[in-house]
Formats: sequence, C-alpha cells, structure tokens
Amino acid sequence: MRHLMNPLDFTTEELDRLFDLANDIEKNPAKYAHACEGKKLATCFYEPSTRTRLSFESAMLSLGGQVLGFADASNSSAAKGESVSDTIRIISCYADICAMRHPKEGAPMVAASKSSIPVINAGDGGHQHPTQTLTDLLTIRSLKGRLNNFTIGLCGDLKFGRTVHSLINALVRYDNIRFIFISPEELKVPDYITEMLKEKSIPYEEVIRLEDCMPQLDLLYMTRVQKERFFNEEDYVRLKDFYILNKAKMEPAKKDMLVLHPLPRVNEISVEVDDDPRAAYFKQVQYGVYVRMALILTLLEIQV
Ligand code: CP
Repeated sequence: MRHLMNPLDFTTEELDRLFDLANDIEKNPAKYAHACEGKKLATCFYEPSTRTRLSFESAMLSLGGQVLGFADASNSSAAKGESVSDTIRIISCYADICAMRHPKEGAPMVAASKSSIPVINAGDGGHQHPTQTLTDLLTIRSLKGRLNNFTIGLCGDLKFGRTVHSLINALVRYDNIRFIFISPEELKVPDYITEMLKEKSIPYEEVIRLEDCMPQLDLLYMTRVQKERFFNEEDYVRLKDFYILNKAKMEPAKKDMLVLHPLPRVNEISVEVDDDPRAAYFKQVQYGVYVRMALILTLLEIQV
C-alpha cells in the first residue's frame, strides 16, 4: 500500500506515467467513468478548502466512486479531542482511500502510519501540498510541453507558502531550472531551501520588485499572503498588498510566459489579467481534477 505525503514520493518516471494517465483521462473521460465503482474516498479536512477538497470529490465522482467526509473539524469528533491516529483507524473502516488536510505539519504522516488505506496529504500547515504540486507540474507539462529548461519566478509569501516549498522540491529534479524568488524581506524563502539549492548547484536569485525580473521569466507563480499563517494582524496588513500583478506589469513579460497561482487569490492578481492568454490559473484548476483522478487510480492500483 502506498501513500502520498510529499511530491518526492514518486520518481520522475512515475510522475511521467501519472501525467500521461491524467492527459489520457482529459482526452477520454468516458473510458474512466466506471473505474472506481464500489470504491469510496474520504475527505478529512481540518482546515478550510475549496479546490483541493472539491477537486478530490469531483475526481472520485468522475471515476464512478463515492465520497464521504468532513469539511469542518469542529463538526467532527476532533472537537471532542479524538486524535488523528484514532480518526484514521475509523475512516479505514468506512472508505478505501483518504485525502487529509491538517493545520499541523506532519499530521497526515501520523495518519498514514496508522492507516490500513492509502492516505494523501492534502496540505499540512506550512509544510507540503503534494497534490497542488502534481497539479502545477501537469499544468506546466501540458501547456509548455516540458518540465525542464525554464526560469520560474515565485512571488509573494515564500516563507509560509507550502505550495511554493513543494513545487521547488519537485522542480529541482529536472534539468536547467533557474529560480527567481520575489518576496519582501519578511516573507523570504526559508534558509533550508536556499541551502538545498546551493548544495545542488541550482541557480537562484532573490529580488524584491516583480518589475526587476519580469522579462526573464518563462513561468510566474503568484501566491497569496496567507492571513492564517501570521501571528499578528499588523504584519499581515502591511504585507498583504505588496504585490499586485496587473496589465501594466504584464507588458514586459514574454509573450508565452504562463501565470500560475494555486488559488485562492485575494488582491495579488488583478482581475484585468484574467483575460490575458498567458493567465493559466483557471486551466490549472481543471488539471487539478485530472491529476487527482490519475492519483486515485494509481494509489488504488486500478488499471483501465
Ligand atoms: N489551492 C488550494 O489548496 O486551494 P484550497 O485551499 O481552496 O484547497
């Protein structure tokens, strides 16, 4: 039995197979419409979510399976003090596979260690968000045709942003990737990431102004400044609108640059950018369903 805790749990060859499967699902949805008949997915979300939870549920329903779960831990027995270890033992009696989001880093890993069904980390604190990374990689591979040879700018909250940490870890396995980290001083990417890049001799730059690097980018990955990760309101208010991508800022960018965002967005991408053909963040959401369908099939070892 296999779990997914970290994007690195899959080799790059396994990821290629997963993405090929996701692309086949995109082209031939009817072929997969009954693949999970009789199977159940539990979504256990101890933190708010729109995309991750609903895309998992949409994925399982599109595969002919069924879904159950909770979207608000205060309505589960966690509110009475039940541990994640006990909860997953219970869920293992009700479902065939579980997607879990938790504010505590490592909680899905604890669940996996006690589970008799595959557990998928659907985001744990500021640590990892592997299925968002699978979504990001599939989007890039599908729209750019490759996962190597590009300069990617990551912009916004690089300190607490688990999607950013997961994506960097996944991209370092591909050739000729250059990172430009765009953030205010307070939200810089953690040292353990820059140390890892230095060790692997992977080029990176840190800049504060988006305008200083726009023409160099093949991909721009925008992120939200996350209110829920700040210890005080004052710091959040000071930093929340530090970056706002608008039409004027898109002017100097390459004509085939892609703008990605894990969403939700607040103010960091102006809605006037949504009609720009380089804005790929809503397509990214659709790829998130295909890749989660492919992941469910892979972890349940169902071949179609
Ligand atoms: N991208 C993402 O994780 O969105 P949700 O928080 O809505 O699941």
